[in-house]
Amino acid sequence: MTTASTAAVTYWEPLWSQGRRYRQLDDTENRLLEDHLGPGRDRPALDIGCGDGSLARRLAGLGYRATGIDCSPSAIELAAAQDTGPGHEPAWRCMDITTDDLRVLPEPAYAVVTCRLVYRWIDDKAAFLDRVRHLLAPGGTFWVVTEIAGRRPATDPLRGLGITPAQAEILTAGWSAVQTADLDVLRCYALHP
Ligand SMILES: C[S@@+](CC[C@H](N)C(=O)[O-])C[C@H]1O[C@@H](n2cnc3c(N)ncnc32)[C@H](O)[C@@H]1O
Repeated sequence: MTTASTAAVTYWEPLWSQGRRYRQLDDTENRLLEDHLGPGRDRPALDIGCGDGSLARRLAGLGYRATGIDCSPSAIELAAAQDTGPGHEPAWRCMDITTDDLRVLPEPAYAVVTCRLVYRWIDDKAAFLDRVRHLLAPGGTFWVVTEIAGRRPATDPLRGLGITPAQAEILTAGWSAVQTADLDVLRCYALHP
């Protein structure tokens, strides 16, 4: 399914294939998403690092023409296995957002690009953000959900999941408007070109 065995594939594929799962969307996060992105009205949306596909399906439920991409073939299989039939199901693609040719995506530009619990894991964040900017339609929104460093107790083994202030600075630099909303250890960003 995927074209190359990149570092991201090597890291994530065994986790998904061995049954590892991640924090689920809840009502509060869904409300924030809806408040910041608004109704889809059949506009295209892309979820980067879609995992089991929950967020891409949520976007489809809001009326977006959604595509979910992930570097892990097992994650994409899991996402596609939950399709209930033709209609408003997202399109699924197995690809590495940092290395693969973006022209294989179904649309050249997206009104909404989302990225949940993924930014932390991208090595070259500046290059990644350049690629996202190329994918955003004028007036679009880049929705990022990420854990912020320093919100867990010092003894919590998961405290390394948060992004540092320097990484947050890279994320938020160069947008015309930046909105944020906090959700316990997470921060949601709505970034506008
Ligand atoms: C912590 S999981 C989050 C999954 C999902 N977004 C969620 O919120 O449940 C991070 C996901 O990003 C994917 N990922 C990491 N690096 C990637 C890359 N370079 N290209 C595409 N997907 C990537 C992983 O395979 C994994 O599914």
